[in-house]
Amino acid sequence: MEFINSFKQPENNNLISFEGIDGCGKSTQIELLKNYLDKNHYNVLCLREPGGTKFGEKLRQAILESTEKLSPSAEAFLFASSRAQLLEELALPFISKSKRNICILDRYIHSSLAYQGFARSLGTEKIINIHNTYPLNVIPNITFYLDITVETSTKRQENRNQKKDYFEKEKLKFFEKLVDGYNASENLIPNKFKKINGELDKSEIHKIIVQDFENLKR
Ligand code: TYD
Repeated sequence: MEFINSFKQPENNNLISFEGIDGCGKSTQIELLKNYLDKNHYNVLCLREPGGTKFGEKLRQAILESTEKLSPSAEAFLFASSRAQLLEELALPFISKSKRNICILDRYIHSSLAYQGFARSLGTEKIINIHNTYPLNVIPNITFYLDITVETSTKRQENRNQKKDYFEKEKLKFFEKLVDGYNASENLIPNKFKKINGELDKSEIHKIIVQDFENLKR
């Protein structure tokens, strides 16, 4: 599929997203990167999706605690609503202020491509089309995808022993589709998509992430 022309990357190279299936280690790596950036005198804003804003957190609850089956389209638009609110209210004002302001997003458009586009079979074109106008056409400068197997994901979730949310209750097949979806989404967005083996030691993964961050021009 062709990229839509309207996708834009922030000029300051300071919008970063993390992606992966449950248990891939996003939270750990986001914290490590935040600590690194704090020490290097950057200002860091970490936001999660869905959520991040007051309104977004209400949407998050509505989706993740839903006891009714949502239509895949409803899912896609709800995630996009949360994203639009997060961009206009917090992320975009923050990153436009200074090159030293770095916004780290825990999930972004690649989640919608993998979860709704692939695993829910909506099609990636529909997801791309939802994102063709401002502010949703703003894409991260770099996306770190922490790649783990479905087996590792299942094991890590069992070890956590937490109550399962709306998506975590899905069957194995769904998670297999997600992995395929993430791999296939690599070239759908015109930004740097960095796939990292999420089974590596966490300090090794952190080193790769820092290296890639430092390679972004600013
Ligand atoms: P969360 O508890 O934040 O998951 P994790 O800790 O693994 O990031 O829940 C977010 C869930 O929402 C997760 O299962 C992925 C899903 N999701 C989508 O299906 N589409 C999206 O666009 C986004 C942002 C998240």
